[in-house]
Amino acid sequence: MRYPVRKLWPGLLLAGILVSAFIAAEPATEKKPAETLKGMALPEYDKDGKLLRPTGFEKWVVVGTSIGLGYSDGGPRDPNDPGTFHNVYLQPQAFDHYVTTGKFPEQTVFIVTNNQSRPAKTKGTVSRSGFVAAPTSGLEIAIKDSNKYPDGWAYFMFHDQPGKSKSQTRTAERAFERKDCFDCHAEHAANDNVFTQFYSVLTDAREKQVAKDATSK
Ligand code: HEC
Repeated sequence: MRYPVRKLWPGLLLAGILVSAFIAAEPATEKKPAETLKGMALPEYDKDGKLLRPTGFEKWVVVGTSIGLGYSDGGPRDPNDPGTFHNVYLQPQAFDHYVTTGKFPEQTVFIVTNNQSRPAKTKGTVSRSGFVAAPTSGLEIAIKDSNKYPDGWAYFMFHDQPGKSKSQTRTAERAFERKDCFDCHAEHAANDNVFTQFYSVLTDAREKQVAKDATSK
């Protein structure tokens, strides 16, 4: 049986009204999940809201490295122990977003690996001086999520137990209090709580992009 279009109109109108009423009835207070970039690895939490130790970040971009960076005046260091290596990792999608916009997107994750330094000069190797990084002993993590964290960024730390498989002991940690991590970052970091002043890999790429944008205008 065929309906003349004219007769379908009231039905369509009613359906339209119902759909709009349904959309309007959505509670206004409900927070929408932060928009995320395609393919970007996201933080994972357990059922209590604790952060699970991230996996797979070894393939992200290393934006900076430091050795023996301390937060107090230490005086001359032991020449045989320059301190702990830090490698700072960032998701490749967040890297690209920063390069094109100068901003860190929601769900940005920074991971700093902590690696003790070891003298490179060991028996049977060709190296005569300097230091190499021992296997990772811990992770420091910063996550940007304005919906989840009122301050915008939250900070976490994982300590690895030597000899235990990291993936088998996928521990979960709670965020630190503001005074433990956030405050120093907010006060001293160059851009949006991030110490971009130390990440030339990232800032050089951003500067090149800005110059390119300026010439293509
Ligand atoms: C007294 C200042 C200070 C405090 C407190 C501090 N940080 Fe940082 N943080 C730094 C500096 C300086 C860097 C630069 C890179 C480095 O450490 O090699 C940094 C870098 C980082 C980064 C890399 C991304 C970024 O923001 O630059 C993470 C992640 C991080 N810290 C986590 C933590 C965590 C977790 C805590 C608390 C347990 C903490 N930080 C406490 C000074 C601080």
